[in-house]
Amino acid sequence: MSNTTPVRTVIVGCGMISAGGYQPRCQAYPHRIELVGYYDQDEERASALAERNGGHVYKSLDEVLNDANVEAIVNLTLHISHYPVSLAALKAGKHVYSEKPISIRTDEANELVETAEAMGLKLACAPSAILGYVQQNVWQRIREGEIGDVISAIGNFGGPLEHWHPSADAFLMHAGPFRDVAPYPLTAMTTMIAPVKTVHGFARVAVPKRILHQGPRQGTEFEVNEKDHGFAVLEFDAPQKAGAHGFIYHSFTVASGIPPYEIHGTAGGFSLQAHDDGRGIKKFTPRDGWQDEPSPPKAFTGLDWGKGVADFADAIRSDRNPRCNGAQARHALEVCERIIESSDVGRPVDVVSRFRAPQPVDSVAPWEDAS
Ligand SMILES: NC(=O)c1ccc[n+]([C@@H]2O[C@H](COP(=O)([O-])OP(=O)(O)OC[C@H]3O[C@@H](n4cnc5c(N)ncnc54)[C@H](O)[C@@H]3O)[C@@H](O)[C@H]2O)c1
Repeated sequence: MSNTTPVRTVIVGCGMISAGGYQPRCQAYPHRIELVGYYDQDEERASALAERNGGHVYKSLDEVLNDANVEAIVNLTLHISHYPVSLAALKAGKHVYSEKPISIRTDEANELVETAEAMGLKLACAPSAILGYVQQNVWQRIREGEIGDVISAIGNFGGPLEHWHPSADAFLMHAGPFRDVAPYPLTAMTTMIAPVKTVHGFARVAVPKRILHQGPRQGTEFEVNEKDHGFAVLEFDAPQKAGAHGFIYHSFTVASGIPPYEIHGTAGGFSLQAHDDGRGIKKFTPRDGWQDEPSPPKAFTGLDWGKGVADFADAIRSDRNPRCNGAQARHALEVCERIIESSDVGRPVDVVSRFRAPQPVDSVAPWEDAS
């Protein structure tokens, strides 16, 4: 009989999204995920999560990786630690679900994907909003031809991060808006259209010196090392004869009013969130223009951080490809890296990575308890 017990999982990195997102939402799917413990380089943060609902507080990453009871880790450290923590976990035989970006550089992401394959382990990566009922609903209707041939998509996300995030310096010094937030529309676009084959990027450092406005280090000045403002034109590797094109705008300087995600076809279009679920859908038709639609039944309000981990846990137990796959996350990262390169060299640049397209969510989703 196949093993259907929940996957014994440790959260590594116990900051804002662990406390407010992953811990409560993973605990919403106890038939898939058992949170057996927590590790953070700041032990108080790990202890705070364990105090809420039990679980072991690990003193080091080695202690997590040497614990034979642990099957998987959820890597919620900051960007620069995603690669070394995930690589160490894979080498120790643990399955890995990582927050985005999968790593800072594409060669690191290649190593992660190759190590997972060589070790026979699952490597999954956020964002998981594509699993939400809104994105799944729109994707299905696109596959059924409701908006005709897809011709383009646009995406936008960002804003002046240092005004609300206590670790904004880490985001601006090591990741920048492309690596940090472009994975939201890029995951939706590359799932619903095709991988990206060429990018033409325009990006710059717009505000090189900033001050943290939130958290215990409020008032700290920092220098921005990554391009903090820009946009890019994308060409998809799409089957349509005339091709399909995209535009993404990502800035940690300005919050633009460009819609977060639109997808356009020869017979209509959809407008929705790319980074969460449950905020409704707008549909465009040539006859009626843009009209509001209610969210589909079961749509979650906000982002359900647990769905991606539950799908990953189910993929471990049934030995299938996780839908939020490491190879697709590597592609999204490479698109971002090539956008910066294109901006530097002043011409379009090709993207070489590809991935196996994710499966749509079945009528009984992997996070639902069918028993
Ligand atoms: N905050 C958000 O809204 C948000 C949304 C989506 C995704 N994310 C992603 O999630 C990740 C975490 O974001 P956050 O907002 O929770 O940040 P955060 O700074 O609040 O938390 C990060 C935690 O990781 C710990 N940490 C860092 N390096 C570590 C290491 N090597 N070993 C152990 N612990 C380590 C830090 O001590 C900290 O507690 C980021 O990569 C970010 O891109 C954040």
